[in-house]
Amino acid sequence: MNSSSQPEIEGGVLIQGNQDTAVSYSVKEKQAKALYLPYMSGVSERNPQKTFYLETFGCQMNVHDSEKVVGRLVQEGYRQVETVEQADLILYNTCSIRDKAEQKVFHRLADYKKLQAQGKKFGVLGCVAQQEGEKVFERAPHVSMVCGSASYRNLPEMLVQIEAGKRATGLDDRQTDECFETEFTARTNPHRGYITIIEGCDKFCAYCVVPFTRGKERSRTSSSVLTEARQMADLGYTDIQLLGQNVNSYRDPEGKKTFAELLAAVGEVLGIKRVRFTTSHPRDFGRDIVEAIDTVPTLCDHVHLPVQSGSTRLLDAMQRLYTREQYLERIAWMKAAKRQISITTDVIVGFPGETEADFAETLSLLDEVEYDGVFSFKYSARPNTPALSLHDAIPEEEQSRRLEVLMSRQKDIQVARYRKYIGTTTEVMVEGFNEARRQWIGRTSQNKTLNFTASSEVAPKPGSYAQVRVTGSFPNSLLGEMVV
Ligand code: 5AD
Ligand code: SF4
Repeated sequence: MNSSSQPEIEGGVLIQGNQDTAVSYSVKEKQAKALYLPYMSGVSERNPQKTFYLETFGCQMNVHDSEKVVGRLVQEGYRQVETVEQADLILYNTCSIRDKAEQKVFHRLADYKKLQAQGKKFGVLGCVAQQEGEKVFERAPHVSMVCGSASYRNLPEMLVQIEAGKRATGLDDRQTDECFETEFTARTNPHRGYITIIEGCDKFCAYCVVPFTRGKERSRTSSSVLTEARQMADLGYTDIQLLGQNVNSYRDPEGKKTFAELLAAVGEVLGIKRVRFTTSHPRDFGRDIVEAIDTVPTLCDHVHLPVQSGSTRLLDAMQRLYTREQYLERIAWMKAAKRQISITTDVIVGFPGETEADFAETLSLLDEVEYDGVFSFKYSARPNTPALSLHDAIPEEEQSRRLEVLMSRQKDIQVARYRKYIGTTTEVMVEGFNEARRQWIGRTSQNKTLNFTASSEVAPKPGSYAQVRVTGSFPNSLLGEMVV
């Protein structure tokens, strides 16, 4: 139903149509202080007056990278500001998963080019930086820094360079073994936070730019992940999301824990009430993950398992390394679990050579699985990827038609699925308050948005947990009232 890039899962903002989103990024003063203050004593005095603005595009990995980049810049003595106009340094953390996302960054750069005359400097970070490299300087000559995600550890030196009026480039050659770990992560939410467990990707799906933009696969040790989880619990976090391009490929460099064991261990950290993980690859998705969800109550009953297509023929062309039947076997494990696991997926329509019959198989897969949410995208040709050499491109109008058909089919499925929750009572984490609707915004363990009313005497606090009885349903959200 949802057709968008990943952050919408997180924010619960469901957007129709095949668009990429920008995640406007700003650290709220109060939240930031909680994290900065304990560390501020070591902060360099080199740039005490320098300010920066950072806007993030793309997936949760980028959002979390930005939290680490902000922490690093603050450590270097920079101060984050909310507008481009207030900033000395303007940074874009970019996404190149589809062409539209990439174009958005160059439009943004063009919009603010005139500010160069005021001495402001521009930097491009993330996937477009890694993919385009020094070509960014040709396309946008006012940019002075280009840095891919595997080079963020070099940011302090790069900042010195650009301050000296030079250009700075940090690009990865797919050889790095390092993960970007900082003591200073400026998390934007004081209750829910990300932890990276694995970076990069070695899968090379035929359509995907990620192996070229995020370097080779490298896992963090389970000890460092658990240390970070405990630190977050000490700071009051109760909800943790483990992140990686493919979390199921996690290989503990210390050899202590499998992914499922790490998941369970994070779930057992004192104070942690919810643990999620994304993204999974069906080929590496083991039954032990489902067993862990069944055994450890803090693991959320939601799995995002991107399928991309319901046709084995097309999955083969996409180099996805599994068949429709193997994918459905994994779905069957989840449906056989004791807990009711909600399942969401990603689908690409209009991959080169996708026939009507292939597309019909994707639709029949939606009927068979009955997903709780589908993020659907029109195929977009990306640089360097194997699919570039494929013939039989599907015309844009036909891609759009298939996307519409798919979204409409999935909407019917979701209407029926969400309706079944009416009358049930479930726990939500309170995320905020919608002033216009006078409703609280909650998130269930199954990752559904559940908006609810509460009497003014028991008004819940953001970050707390509440029991809510479901009274109504929509295709993408539930409605309810708090139970005292
Ligand atoms: N074109 C369209 N969608 C893509 N995705 C990844 N690469 C492409 C592409 N070239 C989608 C996949 C993936 C999600 C994050 O983005 O569905 O799971
Ligand atoms: Fe976009 Fe992929 Fe890079 Fe995330 S990893 S920002 S989805 S290209």
